[in-house]
Amino acid sequence: LRETEPVYKMLFPDGQEGWLITRYNDAVEVLMDPRFIKDISKLYGGSIEQQSVFMHTMLFSDPPDHKRLRGLVQKAFTPQMIAGMRGRIQEITNELLDKAEGKTTMNLIDDFAFPLPIIVICEILGVPSADRDKFRVWSNSLIEGSNGEHATEMFKHMNEFIQYLSQWFEKVRKNPGYDLISQLIMAEEDGDQLTERELYGVVALLIIAGHETTVNLIGNTILALLENPDQLNLLKDKSDLIHTAIEESLRFNGPVEFSTSRWANEDMEFRGKSIRRGDLIVIALNSANHDQGQFKDADLFDITREKSPHLAFGKGIHLCLGAPLARLEGEIAINSLLKRFPLIELAVDKEQLEWRPGMIVRGIKELPLS
Ligand code: HEM
Repeated sequence: LRETEPVYKMLFPDGQEGWLITRYNDAVEVLMDPRFIKDISKLYGGSIEQQSVFMHTMLFSDPPDHKRLRGLVQKAFTPQMIAGMRGRIQEITNELLDKAEGKTTMNLIDDFAFPLPIIVICEILGVPSADRDKFRVWSNSLIEGSNGEHATEMFKHMNEFIQYLSQWFEKVRKNPGYDLISQLIMAEEDGDQLTERELYGVVALLIIAGHETTVNLIGNTILALLENPDQLNLLKDKSDLIHTAIEESLRFNGPVEFSTSRWANEDMEFRGKSIRRGDLIVIALNSANHDQGQFKDADLFDITREKSPHLAFGKGIHLCLGAPLARLEGEIAINSLLKRFPLIELAVDKEQLEWRPGMIVRGIKELPLS
């Protein structure tokens, strides 16, 4: 498609027709162009916005709401704030790796890549990380449900999630602490407080975005390294290559396959195609990151690749809020794992590995290592 139909009209799995953007330069243009909006209720009225807890979050809003909603949590995710968490992230990593010590095999996803980011985001928010398996069920359902097939299940889980949060917020209201939820509950930014729905939305978004993606960053990086033993050995020899290795993994096999939906807010011509107001536009992030026009030897996994302006975290005003956290978690996780278990290898045939279903997330279901 990138070669022949870079702006491609197609039917998406949820039955909607829309445009898929696969080239790097086009992707950047769409991500930066305010004529492509996120808030669907502006185009199709109020009824659709009832559907998802996320509709009232920064990810599905446009300026000026976007600025207000993002501004309320941005301070907790600046590179400086995140750098201050290095010690705690290393501690959690060590505890998880201790549990794998002495075992003949580990399932990298369940035993390490999932618990690490979910414990971290739970601690930031102040919700009990002991409830992480519930969050995992709810968030898997919300992500898979978003492509239509599992909609009934999704609404059931969304309600359970909201009920859980509602009980938790009651507790916090009575006894606030220093965590992010306490701050959000007390939030007043430029005189604007969050509405109740926005509060549910932002907490659910952070719990889900805070782990669904990083788990796959860790899994996909280890898989790419095992498939490219020269790169694995290079990283084992030079652990300071970890920064470029993580960037290369994000580019090569990014955890978010497709952007969230954007909508044309006016009729326009784009690369010779007539896009109408209300049309859906989706960006194939991983395709853009393999565009030969932008990345030399794009299909090569090269952990020494410098200056790699990949789109794994998106671009523009919706650039991933959690990017500094995800990068730090990825760096600590991969370096610590390789240091502790330098001889890891796949415990099953590569053909037995299964990718997770759904359009948005790119990650392996289980990654057994010995
Ligand atoms: C937005 C990817 C980790 C929170 C995004 C977007 C992408 C992305 C592509 C933009 C989507 C779009 O424009 O359609 C990733 C990847 C991650 C990761 C690949 C891990 C490797 C995280 C973490 C958090 C997080 C750890 C939370 C702490 C968010 C939020 C947004 C976002 C809140 C919405 C930002 C906005 O709309 O202004 N992420 N993410 N992400 N991400 Fe991440």
